[in-house]
Amino acid sequence: MQTTQLTASDLSPLTPAYDSILTLAPYQTGKPIEELTREYGVSDVVKLASNENPMGCSPRVTLAVTEQLGQLSRYPDGNGYYLKQALSDFNDVNANQITLGNGSDDLLDILARSFVGADDAIVYSQYAFVVYPMLAKMQGATGIEVPAQRFGHNLKAMSQAVQDNPNTKIVFIANPNNPTGTQLEQKELRQFVASVPSSVLVVLDEAYIEYSPESNNRALLDEFDNVIIVRTFSKAYGLAGLRVGYALSSVAVADLLNRIRQPFNVSRIGLAAAAAALADQDFIEKNSSDK
Ligand SMILES: Cc1ncc(COP(=O)(O)O)c(C=O)c1O
Repeated sequence: MQTTQLTASDLSPLTPAYDSILTLAPYQTGKPIEELTREYGVSDVVKLASNENPMGCSPRVTLAVTEQLGQLSRYPDGNGYYLKQALSDFNDVNANQITLGNGSDDLLDILARSFVGADDAIVYSQYAFVVYPMLAKMQGATGIEVPAQRFGHNLKAMSQAVQDNPNTKIVFIANPNNPTGTQLEQKELRQFVASVPSSVLVVLDEAYIEYSPESNNRALLDEFDNVIIVRTFSKAYGLAGLRVGYALSSVAVADLLNRIRQPFNVSRIGLAAAAAALADQDFIEKNSSDK
């Protein structure tokens, strides 16, 4: 992977949309096990880098995927009707409050593209998910990193940062956090959301929610139109290889995001697999809880 600095002259006479794009380092993914095996001749690799699920996924997924194999020449349902119905029941929201993504990374990207311009700012915590600062750079926006408190989000300082930067459009909060594993109390988080202007979108990234059900802040959606919850099938559901995530928001925000996303951003196999995985909550109970 290329990691050396890319300069304006490397591209000249072409120019990127924003100078900040040149300062982006390529995302360093954990190497696939196949690559490690090839490179070092080792077997029995335990890969921890990308928080994948070592327990695999529900056996129901295999069946659902197999059923799709005869349909691969057909585009997927661009609206993800069945998966949205299942998610709507599961999360007690209307289907028109849901946006599906090619992994939750896709949704974070769609959010930044939908709301953040070059004069705007994105606020996030030190030691939070590495993609948030990248999104600020991609949009030519200002990324404001707020120093962490005991390796977690310092919500008071983040609220102050929003106040000090009236051009803030999005605050990203990973709860539970990756990579430090911290989690926020519901009361504290509610106070934070109430403290920021309603023109600021508060994105609660709940990629690891199944491992910490007490961090579920679904209730905030009913109270605040500027809250959006982003979740994924990559972690507890064990579908990282298929790339499916979803966002829960107000109807208006979902309407906007659905205009910005690619028309077929979740594959036919991804849609079927996610619906099957969601239906097997026993798998989640057995493999995610510490009981
Ligand atoms: C906090 C957090 N958010 C989002 C993601 C993106 O996950 P995916 O795009 O696989 O849904 C990750 C993946 O590691 C993560 O740790």
